[in-house]
Amino acid sequence: GLGGSAGASRRLARSMVCLDDVRRLARRRVPRMVYDFIDGGAEGERTLGLNRLAFERHVLNPKVLSGASAPSTGVRVAGQHLDIPVMLAPTGLSRLAGRSGETAAARAAERAGTVSVVSSASSVPVEKVAAAASTPQWFQLYPWGDWSLTMELLERARRARCTTLVVTVDVPVTGSRERDLRNGLTIPPRPTVRTALDVLRRPRWMLGLATGPRITMANLTGLSHRRNGSASSLARLNLDLLNPSYDWHDLARLRREWPGPLFVKGILDPDDARRAVETGADGVIVSNHGGRQADGVPASLDALPAIAGAVADRCEVLVDGGVRRGSDVLVALALGAKACLIGRPWMYGLAAAGEAGVDRVLHILTTEIRRTMTLIGCADVADLDRGRLRPARATL
Ligand code: FNR
Repeated sequence: GLGGSAGASRRLARSMVCLDDVRRLARRRVPRMVYDFIDGGAEGERTLGLNRLAFERHVLNPKVLSGASAPSTGVRVAGQHLDIPVMLAPTGLSRLAGRSGETAAARAAERAGTVSVVSSASSVPVEKVAAAASTPQWFQLYPWGDWSLTMELLERARRARCTTLVVTVDVPVTGSRERDLRNGLTIPPRPTVRTALDVLRRPRWMLGLATGPRITMANLTGLSHRRNGSASSLARLNLDLLNPSYDWHDLARLRREWPGPLFVKGILDPDDARRAVETGADGVIVSNHGGRQADGVPASLDALPAIAGAVADRCEVLVDGGVRRGSDVLVALALGAKACLIGRPWMYGLAAAGEAGVDRVLHILTTEIRRTMTLIGCADVADLDRGRLRPARATL
């Protein structure tokens, strides 16, 4: 096959033992500009780095001889049962990483007993993603400036059986991803000689991109088919659609329009979390967009405890950013999250070994969560709280 046979992909997937392996293999398999698009953060990548460092400051307090041999990892989020407290975060343009793009995420999530969040900038239409899995997905909305376009999107997501709406609020403008600027992965693309040659050296990746649905404005879920001709040029994406003046009243309006659960993604401040709840949000996702938006803002894990303290009794609190180990998931739950989302890891999986790579990422995390729970004597993820954590004392 074009991307290697299914058997070859599975063998490749099995060769990856942890999520760092997945990242390393992804780096070898796709053009540098694609890897950098996935891997990179905004400006000096300080927040990106802090997202990882934040986990290093906590360790789990193990209890021995608990007899907890079959740990319970299930959680209920927005009324849906998840077998593991991990969801797949919305990521745009996933077809750059692999041919099946967002459909791979939906199917792999279903097999792992969880859910993917389909991005507004999904490179596969939301209808196709939803049809790929028999379990309902969630839908992520960028609040575009054009209200009728937004309403049309909500209607499409609803008809595609998406249960929960995730409104991303940390992108009033796009962050400055300097690796993309250097590589020429801009709108429109301006590849340098070096990045162009690097793409040519990866014919398998090029074939994958050429043989699936084309990545066009019309195929990006969030962009209406009504925007045709010159109006649909990628160059107008930022100018036309993102709306930096979006405010709480707009969120209230969205709340009135969406009948199902609504989560606000991109909150780092407890007062904002309270305001989201007062505006009718059923949940908040503590997130700095994986360090891809504002640089120099806190690690999401560091922002989590105060937000959980402020609103966890009134809404569901999720967190994303830097989750790379089963033990990271347990730390986040102990600090007040109901579940975590992973963004880059599933994109690395797709880049490394296609859909089998996304399966592998979820398999690795599930195994690590269960094994760590057994090792620390934790019978149920619901039992995780601050009492389970200690500060990591050793210095590096
Ligand atoms: C994202 N993220 C994102 N978020 C969102 O709400 N809508 C989107 O379209 C995208 N697109 C996107 C593309 C890529 C390539 C990445 C890596 C991320 C952010 C994502 O949902 C999530 O917040 C972070 O990825 C979480 O951090 P980690 O897990 O990548 O460290």
